[in-house]
Amino acid sequence: MIGIVDSGIGGFGVYREVKRLLPRARIVYVADQAHFPYGEKTEAEIEQYLCGIIDIAVRNGAMMVIVACNSASVAALEYARKKFNIPIVGTIPAIKPAVTTSHSQHIGVIGTPATITSAYYQNLIHEFGAESTIIPLACPGLADTIERLEDPRERLETCLAPLREPRVDTLVLACTHYPLIRDEIQEVMGKDVTLLDVSEAVARQAKHVFEAQTLDTDEEVGSDLFVTTGDARHFKKQIHEYGIDQCAVNGYSMEAVHP
Ligand code: DGL
Repeated sequence: MIGIVDSGIGGFGVYREVKRLLPRARIVYVADQAHFPYGEKTEAEIEQYLCGIIDIAVRNGAMMVIVACNSASVAALEYARKKFNIPIVGTIPAIKPAVTTSHSQHIGVIGTPATITSAYYQNLIHEFGAESTIIPLACPGLADTIERLEDPRERLETCLAPLREPRVDTLVLACTHYPLIRDEIQEVMGKDVTLLDVSEAVARQAKHVFEAQTLDTDEEVGSDLFVTTGDARHFKKQIHEYGIDQCAVNGYSMEAVHP
């Protein structure tokens, strides 16, 4: 069983890719909606919350965990790896692929305040983007809009305005919530801008780890489990809204837990 954890529904894109690449794996998805948003918390708080949700995944049978959240990965991945004796796959902003993709070398990066201000992110820029013009932009409140299932267009217009002049040709979606509104972001940025997210790369890495540690058996594949620390009714609506129930081909159950 594979655990996928996030502060909310940001891991849905990774869930979808994991289902595609590993149809026989069972998933326990844990959304820490009681503590959402991670992107506006301190590193110490994120460390504590992340360990809490990994623990829920492990108690439900996860043998490996994907942290499908940039804010948690840049702030607390190393901390969590020391605490848990299982493989933990993280989500890292796609700076290196952006430098390879961009023609103009004017690259925008959007993420939560926790990601954009992190030492981890600064080091990535230093390592891979030193020769490029990288424009980082924290978008406080954008993940909340997505989480509440509201129309993000108005907020996007305001958030993305600084990326129009100078124009970027590549935009890194450094928050796992943002690919859920990829079409709206593309609409605001214009169709010539390449949007990069790492859901597929994270799922590929997870497949690699999964296959290295698992002997696939002929056992029947069980259903997935979706756990929230928040409001179960809203979570069910989100699962339906993003077609995640359609991806759960072997069915799924839901549970609400108190953090
Ligand atoms: N999904 C989280 C990320 O990738 C952001 C949401 C939050 O602020 O909790 O950074």
